[in-house]
Amino acid sequence: MKKKETWSFDYLIYEDPFELSLQDQRLLKKAKDSLDNAYAPYSGLRVGAAVILSDNQILTGANQENAAFPISLCAEQIVLNYAGSNYPDKTITTIAVSAKHVRNKIDQPVIPCGGCRQSLSEFEDRQHQPIRVLLQGETGIIFLFNSVKDILPFSFSRTYLF
Ligand code: THU
Repeated sequence: MKKKETWSFDYLIYEDPFELSLQDQRLLKKAKDSLDNAYAPYSGLRVGAAVILSDNQILTGANQENAAFPISLCAEQIVLNYAGSNYPDKTITTIAVSAKHVRNKIDQPVIPCGGCRQSLSEFEDRQHQPIRVLLQGETGIIFLFNSVKDILPFSFSRTYLF
């Protein structure tokens, strides 16, 4: 016997950034500002991330590559691990991510890689609260997801380790 299940979720697509709340507009701008701090001489893809904490403090990160490619770090990993290391008692409400390529204009949201989604997923578990995910390329439409679990269904978690 088998049964078919369907997985679906709702998310928002904004064509006009000014339809975002002022707080989300501000957070996305911080993610874009942090693109300047990316170090991406190998891929040419600059990624900026900004998180807003429960006390409204905003932290940012940008990808940092290395000539030894595998040790390069994604923007999301940097800002998440900074938040976890320095503000362990605060929760993350939203993460905004933006990206810019040195040669091509990115006019679509860049979706966080699987590894970053896994890190974000564990952060959600740690804080028992969903993290909203706000994405925009250099220009174009904006995606707003209500939770990391929406974009990482069937995620691995610490529950398997006990
Ligand atoms: N990158 C991120 O910063 N975040 C992601 O979610 C995907 C990829 C970076 C890593 C690398 O420096 C560059 O983008 C190309 O993969």
